[in-house]
Parts: sequence; structure tokens; C-alpha cells
Amino acid sequence: MRKKIAAGNWKMHLTSDQAQALVSEVVNMYHNEYHGDAEVIFAPSYPFLSQIHHLVKDVDKVHLSAQNLHEAEQGAYTGEVSASQLTSVGVTHVIIGHSERRQYQQESNALLASKIDIALAHGLTPIYCIGETLEQREAGNTLDVIRTQMTDGCFHLDAEAFGKLIIAYEPVWAIGTGVTASPDQAQEVHAFIRQLIRDKYGAQVADDCSILYGGSVKPSNAAELFAMADIDGGLVGGAALKSRDFTDIIKAL
Ligand code: 13P
Repeated sequence: MRKKIAAGNWKMHLTSDQAQALVSEVVNMYHNEYHGDAEVIFAPSYPFLSQIHHLVKDVDKVHLSAQNLHEAEQGAYTGEVSASQLTSVGVTHVIIGHSERRQYQQESNALLASKIDIALAHGLTPIYCIGETLEQREAGNTLDVIRTQMTDGCFHLDAEAFGKLIIAYEPVWAIGTGVTASPDQAQEVHAFIRQLIRDKYGAQVADDCSILYGGSVKPSNAAELFAMADIDGGLVGGAALKSRDFTDIIKAL
């Protein structure tokens, strides 16, 4: 069944104390103020995963995500983190293919396909990120870019495996810029993604897939984005670092 999800990607922000305080505050507000069935995902930096796990492990519908993982089981990969290391500290989700990793670490769709495979093999739920740059949008290539990222990144999966994925559409030009895609712009791409999934796997798999929008989501625009038919929640950067803002985004679901 399709889920409503608010995921906070903290990127390379916060120290241990700040991370602890943020999660405690959000979980408190979530309990006191929110009575819906949306799920919440926190994606802190690696050093805090274990610590945050202890705060959320008994909280219903609140999950823990890593921001990345390595595609190998284990080995001589200094500075990298494996799927089994993540699950061993209670991680259940992992962001794969964020545009910042595509851009700064040159992560290709083929590499991301192998990261999705290892995540699924270890029971992690991948949050697979796709999205076009401003140049690609202005050249009229948005839908072609999205099709390629889906085809090469995750359409090698069978229907059962694909059904475990969360997709996040994050137009690169809207990330950290304060410029949000309009609800209609986002909906157009979300509907296209769902159609690609329908063509590949059928109506049931497409209807069940949660497709999140990311890119300058804030309390002031969350409700109108989440009201669109094919937008099932948000992958939130900057606004997820403030407990009041992130809770208000959860409440917009
Ligand atoms: P912002 O919400 O800061 O634009 O970041 C979005 C994002 O990249 C989430 O993964």
C-alpha cells in the first residue's frame, strides 16, 4: 500500500548533541500534535546512526535512514560503510543516488543500481533519488533524464523487489536554492514517473509506490505539494534541521 512519508535528509549538518535534541523534539511534537498515519524517516550522518536508533527504535512509524552506502559486501574501502554495518546499528532505510552524490562523487546510474541491489539484499529500503538539472530542464530534457535514471537505476529489478523502493523526485535546481517546483511542475514529473512504473510493472505496483518530492520543501509550501495526486510526501533538507518546521511538514501530510 502507498505510504505518506516525511523524510529528513540532514546532509553534513549537526553535531551529536544537536542531532539528539532535534530528534527528541520532533518525536515529542509528533506524538503530541500529529494523529495521522504518515511515516517519518530521519537520515543523520553516519556517526549518529546508533545514537538516533536508540531514540526511535520503540517509536511507531518513525524510521532511521543512512544517506549512502557502499555497493560491496565488505573489504578494503577506506572511509566507506556497508549495508550489513548499517543494519547492525538498526538502520532500515538508505538514500541512494542523491544528486549531491551524483554530482560530487560522480555516481552513475549503473553504480546506483548495484547500491540498490546490495541494500535490498540486506533488507534495507532504498530511497532512490532522481531529478534533472536546470540545464536539462531548460533544454526540454526533463522527462528523458527521468526515464534514463529510472531505467538504468532501478528497472533491472523484478516487480517484487521494485515494490520495496521509495522514489524521491528532486529537481536539482530546487535543492537548497529556496526555489521550489510549483505543485503543477512537480505533479507532472511524479505522474510521469508513476506511468513509467505502470508500463514496466503494472497498475498495482505503480499505485503502491510512494513517490516523494524534494527541493526547498518548507512548512509554507508543503500542503499544496502534498495535495497533488502523485506526491506522497517529502524528502526535506534544510527545513528538516528545525524541529518546528519539520513537524509542521509532517503535519501537512
Ligand atoms: P532542501 O530541502 O534543503 O532544498 O534539500 C532537499 C534535499 O536535497 C533533500 O534530499
